[in-house]
Amino acid sequence: AYPFVVAVDGPAGSGKSSVSKEAARRLGWGFLDTGAAYRALAWHAAASRVDTEDAASVVASLGSFDYRIGTDPYGYAVHVGGVDVTDAIREPSVTAIVSAVARVPEVRAHLIEVFRAIIAAEKREGIVVEGRDITTVVAPDAPVRILLTASEETRMARRSKELVGHSAEATGAQLQARDRADSKVVDFMNAAEGVTTVDSTDLDFDQTVQAVLDVIRDAQ
Ligand code: C5P
Repeated sequence: AYPFVVAVDGPAGSGKSSVSKEAARRLGWGFLDTGAAYRALAWHAAASRVDTEDAASVVASLGSFDYRIGTDPYGYAVHVGGVDVTDAIREPSVTAIVSAVARVPEVRAHLIEVFRAIIAAEKREGIVVEGRDITTVVAPDAPVRILLTASEETRMARRSKELVGHSAEATGAQLQARDRADSKVVDFMNAAEGVTTVDSTDLDFDQTVQAVLDVIRDAQ
């Protein structure tokens, strides 16, 4: 049967990855981090010495993009060409080029189809899918659609805690620049019609997970 789909979008540092993963764990459902796929392609392009500012070269690199993205919220791993890049795709060098890769229309068209196929193949009862355009483009018909937000100050504070060794100012500036670039491609700052906003500014991690689970339970 087709799984119960929970679509979660939000800006960088909103906590959507960790919150979505934990919600999936508690439900015993699958989890798909779509940003990881864009990051994996950015990693692959950089490793193949592709100029990521050149859209045609990025599109060409799709031809040799051999990757695997799991939906297990526990044993989660991303592989490119058989190499485990789960940690490497979080490096600042990848974060710096991922928006350029993600804005290429052919890249988006390709990955959107990949995501839909991964969702359709999910064997668990449901799957939590998170990204920027899940509620609007990848799975607009999902029974649960959530926009996870937090004030910019909160998001910057959370992100700089994650990136130990990087200055708060540099982290904040990068986060703003990435959100600005990504916002030109898809709107994930405003909830589309029918999308439930969960604002985590005044919630801790566990309360945010609970708020997401409440929205899911109400829809079931
Ligand atoms: O969520 P994360 O920060 O890992 O996403 C990395 C990048 O992937 C984003 O900055 C954005 O450019 C791209 N992305 C996207 N659409 C998605 C998910 C991520 O364009 N659904």
